[in-house]
Amino acid sequence: MNAVKPPLTDDLARVLIDEDSISRRVSELAEEINEKYKDIEEPLMLVGVLKGSFIFMADLSRRLTIPHVVDFIAISSYGKKGAERGEVRLLMDTRENLAGHHVLIVEDILDSGSTLSYLIKTFNARGTKSVETAVFLDKPSRHVIPVEIQFRGFEIPDVWVVGYGLDYKERHRTLPYIAEMIPEK
Ligand code: XMP
Ligand code: MG
Repeated sequence: MNAVKPPLTDDLARVLIDEDSISRRVSELAEEINEKYKDIEEPLMLVGVLKGSFIFMADLSRRLTIPHVVDFIAISSYGKKGAERGEVRLLMDTRENLAGHHVLIVEDILDSGSTLSYLIKTFNARGTKSVETAVFLDKPSRHVIPVEIQFRGFEIPDVWVVGYGLDYKERHRTLPYIAEMIPEK
């Protein structure tokens, strides 16, 4: 689905990652995931973090050839300062019982690390066989809490990005590429 190429609006500085690069990278990640989990007995539990991961989840899961189940959770972090102290709250839990399953958390972007470290801890406490992470974007310069990423799409600089599920105040979420926002004055 490469037909629609929305032009850059005047709040966007540039395209950081174009649609074709995204598509190629997601295919590579899917291959790595297919290989890593090829011998598991139960289906792989994919748990997407709403809302930002929904497009990455759709593309990644459709490239998986191993048996898998798609599920989602919703999280809230207590504002910017709170998030950096790791204060995260579960708003909506998974439908599936994760116990006894290998879990792969599917996240749009790793920033401070508070969301993922909270989720890894929470899911590890549920009798899962393993908990690993697939993260589409990583901002290494923003990390506060160390988190291990097994499947990483792209490293990006410390700029606010939108598109491919990511938003700024709910705007630009469905752009097919990743674009850098011009900061508000
Ligand atoms: P933490 O700090 O928990 O943050 O690793 C992860 C969450 O922060 C949000 N985030 C962004 N969202 N563009 C976005 O649309 C960005 O550049 C950005 N940086 C961080 C996002 O919600 C992610 O789940
Ligand atoms: Mg998010």
